[in-house]
Amino acid sequence: MTGTLYGVGVGPGDPELLTLKAVRILQSVPVVAYPATPQGSAQARDIAAAWLEGKREIPITMPCMLDRGPVNAGYDAAAIRIAEELDAGRDVAILCEGDPLFYGSFSYLLHRLGERFPCVVIPGINSVNAAAAAAALPLMTGEQRLTVIPATAGDDALRQALLNSDSVAILKPGRHRPRLLELLRETGRAEDTLYIEQASRPAQQIIRRFADIPATPGPYFALFLVIRAGSSD
Ligand SMILES: C[S@@+](CC[C@H](N)C(=O)[O-])C[C@H]1O[C@@H](n2cnc3c(N)ncnc32)[C@H](O)[C@@H]1O
Repeated sequence: MTGTLYGVGVGPGDPELLTLKAVRILQSVPVVAYPATPQGSAQARDIAAAWLEGKREIPITMPCMLDRGPVNAGYDAAAIRIAEELDAGRDVAILCEGDPLFYGSFSYLLHRLGERFPCVVIPGINSVNAAAAAAALPLMTGEQRLTVIPATAGDDALRQALLNSDSVAILKPGRHRPRLLELLRETGRAEDTLYIEQASRPAQQIIRRFADIPATPGPYFALFLVIRAGSSD
C-alpha cells in the first residue's frame, strides 16, 4: 500500500483561516513538504506551524528565477523525494499558501505524482478572496465578471482584462508595480483600484487612494483589486 498525497491549502496567512479539514489532515500525516526559498523562508510552513510538531519535513527549495529549467529540475528532485515517502506507505501533505490549485506550486507536483499515487486536494482560501475580505468590498455582484491575471501576463493581456472585465484581480505585482499603475491610468481604471499587501497577516496594508500607491517595485505578497461599483439591488 502506498501513502496518499495531500495538497493542503493553508490559506492566505492568518492561521485561523486554515480549514478544519486542513487541520485534521495535518494532524494525521507523518510527513509534510512545502516550498521554501534558498534563504530558508517558507510561508506555507509558517502559516501551519502550530500543527507540524513531530512531523518529518521536506522543504522544496526553489531558485527565484524566471528560467523554467532550474525550476523544473527543483520540482523533479522534490517529486523523487516525496515519492520515496509515498512508496514506503507514508502519507505526505504538501502545504500550499492560499489554495493549492490557484497559481499554486502544488500543481507542478500533482502533474509529476498524481497518476502514480492516490491524491486528495484540500482547498484553501485564496489571496483574492482574502484581499476582498480585508477591504470589505464585494468582488462582483449580479451579472458582473471577474478576471484574475498575473502581472507577468504582458501589457496587451492586462489592458484587455482592464477594459473588458468589471472586476480584475492582478496578482504578482512585485517589480511590475510601476507599469501596472500606468496601465490602470491608461485604461481609466485608476479610480476603481485598491492595492493590498499581506492580506490577513499582521503586516496587512490596504491602499485605497490611487495616488498613494508607490510607483516603485513592490513586495511579492501583494495584489491589485480593480472593482467597478456594483448595483446595490
Ligand atoms: C504563486 S501565487 C500563489 C497564490 C495562492 N496559491 C492563492 O491561492 O492565493 C502568489 C501571489 O499570490 C498573491 N498573494 C498570496 N498571498 C497573498 C496575501 N496574503 N496578500 C496579498 N497577495 C497575496 C500575490 O499576488 C502573490 O504574488
